[in-house]
Amino acid sequence: MVKKTVRDIDLRGKRVLVRVDFNVPLTAASEVADDTRIRAVLPTLAYLKEQGARIILVSHLGRPKGKVKEELRLDPVARRLGKLLGEKVTKVDTCIGPEAEQAAAALAPGQVLLLENVRFYPEEEKNDPDFARRLAALAEVYVNDAFGTAHRAHASTAGVAAYLPAVAGFLMEKEITFLRRVLESPERPLVAVLGGAKVSDKIGVIQNLLGRVDSLLIGGGMGNTFLAAKGYAVGRSLLEEDKIGLAGELLAAAAARGMALLVPEDVVVAKEATAEAPRQTVGVDEIPAEAMVCDIGPATAAKYAAVIAGARTVVWNGPMGIFEIEPFAAGTRRIAEAVAACPGLTVVGGGDSVAAVEQMGLAERISHLSTGGGASLEFLEGRTLPGVAALLDA
Ligand code: 3PG
Repeated sequence: MVKKTVRDIDLRGKRVLVRVDFNVPLTAASEVADDTRIRAVLPTLAYLKEQGARIILVSHLGRPKGKVKEELRLDPVARRLGKLLGEKVTKVDTCIGPEAEQAAAALAPGQVLLLENVRFYPEEEKNDPDFARRLAALAEVYVNDAFGTAHRAHASTAGVAAYLPAVAGFLMEKEITFLRRVLESPERPLVAVLGGAKVSDKIGVIQNLLGRVDSLLIGGGMGNTFLAAKGYAVGRSLLEEDKIGLAGELLAAAAARGMALLVPEDVVVAKEATAEAPRQTVGVDEIPAEAMVCDIGPATAAKYAAVIAGARTVVWNGPMGIFEIEPFAAGTRRIAEAVAACPGLTVVGGGDSVAAVEQMGLAERISHLSTGGGASLEFLEGRTLPGVAALLDA
């Protein structure tokens, strides 16, 4: 890790402001539906408690756009965190001002306070220096453990670091360490599997990976744009017409480097993307005009799985088809199984692929499941994440 972490700073008895990413899905009854991101920061919290630190947590939830939204208050998160820690977590309804200041000042060593959704303040996303200063004034040290939000240059993710010594938590350290191993020192062959709906979301990643990976396997809706670039008709499939030229350039760039950029050879198609619609598997040269591609086909899945089986490092982001509809989940499942079975280092990022791995009970067999969607993509694009850049260099 090129940045200082909680291990590198004296935390004993200190008030510590910890940016976490508790942007978790909620149920209709406003309970936490998936607490992965809460559990992911428990090692950092345990360490801070051991040090006798007084812990002040700050997070966003959803996109309230600078206004108080009742349904986006962090109370359900405080309750779940309290259950996981086995103690009461105090929650206040503000982030700055007297209520937050008094609650922070009243913390005993090891106690945990959760501030309100920081995006209720318009100053947060503007990275307003005065807001950052007031947030920082609650504490003596700043810890960023919110990898999932590290691609945002906001007051609580970057601005506060101007006012406090700033270090990474263990989750941030782990995420960066795994992703750097993929980009900077992978054991080869290095295989990237990219899926999801849109090529436009992944262009930067593909461009950055072209010079680094041994094989790039493409699936999901974005695969259609590559098929169109190769001259195949894709019927009524999801297609980004304005990106067909670019997909062609990426294919040519890969060929010029002698790199394997694989696109589907067979696909599962249906007239409607529903579980009931009749479906068939066809070669990519025979996609019916009235059909849409809903998954990669079994021959493609088997070919991709064989490439993954021979890899020493795999990074996967994005499902291979509409996996939330069971008849179109087979391609994503086959890839998830192959990644889990791969003996090399395996990293999975992006909400949908992580969800697929978890639903299949394969999470334990992946070296690292990233808690960051957008953040892990920006990292793979080779971009500097503002939340990381703001931390003290090691
Ligand atoms: C995420 O869920 O990707 C992070 O919490 C960042 O959320 P944002 O895209 O609203 O900034």
